[in-house]
Amino acid sequence: MSRGDQVKQGGNMTLTHEAAQAISADKVASLPATPAQYRCPICGKICVNHEDLKFHYANEHPDAIVPIIVKLNVNGKDCEVLIEPHWTLQRTLQFQLGLTGAKQMCDSGACGSCTVIMDGRAVLSCTILAAECEGKVIETVEGIAANPKWKTLIDSYCRWDAMQCGYCTPGFLVTAKALLDKNPNPTEEECREALAGNICICGTYPRHSQAILEATMKMAEGGE
Ligand code: FES
Ligand code: FES
Repeated sequence: MSRGDQVKQGGNMTLTHEAAQAISADKVASLPATPAQYRCPICGKICVNHEDLKFHYANEHPDAIVPIIVKLNVNGKDCEVLIEPHWTLQRTLQFQLGLTGAKQMCDSGACGSCTVIMDGRAVLSCTILAAECEGKVIETVEGIAANPKWKTLIDSYCRWDAMQCGYCTPGFLVTAKALLDKNPNPTEEECREALAGNICICGTYPRHSQAILEATMKMAEGGE
């Protein structure tokens, strides 16, 4: 059965966990190691490389700040990204690497929708400049979804229906994964505490702790 068959069944969209995992794995595998193009964000000119872009700035936009290259390790892959120095990590992941899981909602550090894991800690990618992330190891919800180790957690989220519109869900899931990395057997109180910075306007709050607690039990029993 092709992936397309798995996704479309009986005319309805049915995204199996396996299909979603494969899509995430493809996304991670196709992360670009270097910028796809060196485009001037001011006039649109395509330059051949970063040196050419700097030369172009010196001649055409001498008062503007030249875009920079930042090296990140994202979901296990080394990626060089070309960004303007004021870009946040969230914007960089979305627009330079095509990773849309870290959502921009409040864009001011108040909602948790943009949560990613950086050097082992859950952080808000809308509050961090990508320029500050040189050499950092970053994990996004796509990397978590691609890793079979976290299938049990994602399945529990689905079983407990811990989402309605789903916009906030990646942020919750990344926070939950960061919690379980540090504490594989949290109490309900600890789950609530860890998720306290994640806001859900659909009001799914109680279900997240239930999903995490169920997942920890199943993971301790060794699986599904
Ligand atoms: S979008 Fe980053 S905390 Fe809300
Ligand atoms: S499920 Fe809609 S914002 Fe949380």
